[in-house]
Amino acid sequence: MRTVAQAQPNIALIKYWGKRDVDRNLPAVDSLSVTLDSLWTRMSLKFDEQLERDTLTVNGSTAPSMLQRVSNCLDLVAGDERARARVDSTSNFPIGAGLASSAAAFAALVVAADEAAGTRHGTSTLARLAGAASGSAARSLFAGFVELTAGDVEIEVRNIAACASWPLTIIVAVTAEEPKPIGSTEAMIRSARTSPFYSSWLEQQDGDLETARDAVQQKDIAKLAAVAEHNCLKMHSVMWASRPPIVYWNQATLACMQTIRSLQADGHGVFFTIDAGPQLKAVCLPEAGDIVRAALEQTRGVIRTLQSGLGPGARLLEQE
Ligand code: DP6
Repeated sequence: MRTVAQAQPNIALIKYWGKRDVDRNLPAVDSLSVTLDSLWTRMSLKFDEQLERDTLTVNGSTAPSMLQRVSNCLDLVAGDERARARVDSTSNFPIGAGLASSAAAFAALVVAADEAAGTRHGTSTLARLAGAASGSAARSLFAGFVELTAGDVEIEVRNIAACASWPLTIIVAVTAEEPKPIGSTEAMIRSARTSPFYSSWLEQQDGDLETARDAVQQKDIAKLAAVAEHNCLKMHSVMWASRPPIVYWNQATLACMQTIRSLQADGHGVFFTIDAGPQLKAVCLPEAGDIVRAALEQTRGVIRTLQSGLGPGARLLEQE
């Protein structure tokens, strides 16, 4: 029997950047995100006693570079004694280009593996297991507005507001589709070791999180915009000041930032955020969606845009 689970990527408004424990992949800071609805990754999984080793395909092609992480994650969910697995992943958005593809992939993987192995871990435990594979994946287990609290021993993840309570629209401006030059895991380790701004990044995170949480509860877009943009630019400043520097942006990323600034000057409820890649994500009030999308599509260097509302956490789709 094959088990299929689906998860959506999430976009952090207050970012996870840095690890307090690299081996256990424990984040150094708390974070706050929104889970999307229209971008998805589906994981189809079958444990098979006849298989000698795990296999993985991503959008129909074998993916040897990801296989070890997938196998480790399956061990965490189903135990080292488990049968080997055939895993097939499909996504409807670009992989490895700063669109949180690993978040959606590992969130879907833990749900599929839990069902196939019959382990019934429960959502909080599955979030911890997904987070051990990729920190941001833990947040995709939950719907809507999600907060991740990073303790010394383990993480806690919870929904802080439902999708319907403030149905924001996300427009992703895709400015490059090739995989990013350096993965976020390595980039975080380099930031912690070499960036002179890393310690102030850590110090200010709790304050940013509190402001963002209040803004979500009050549905105050101006307040959320100010803190989320500042938090994003601080994270990138940490990266830029690392040695060697980590720069994920391209010219179109900057052009998109200027587009958002003009929209804000015209009074539209919108702000930007950017992750470990060159794509810009615009977060806006639903009534601003059409104008934001049109403006980003006309921005020089934008290849295409993707639009999404807020959506559910990772879930089982079917058994075949
Ligand atoms: C910039 O979750 O990909 O998107 O735990 O090393 O797999 P690992 O990192 P990952 O990092 C995400 C970083 C970010 C910010 C965020 O999503 O909070």
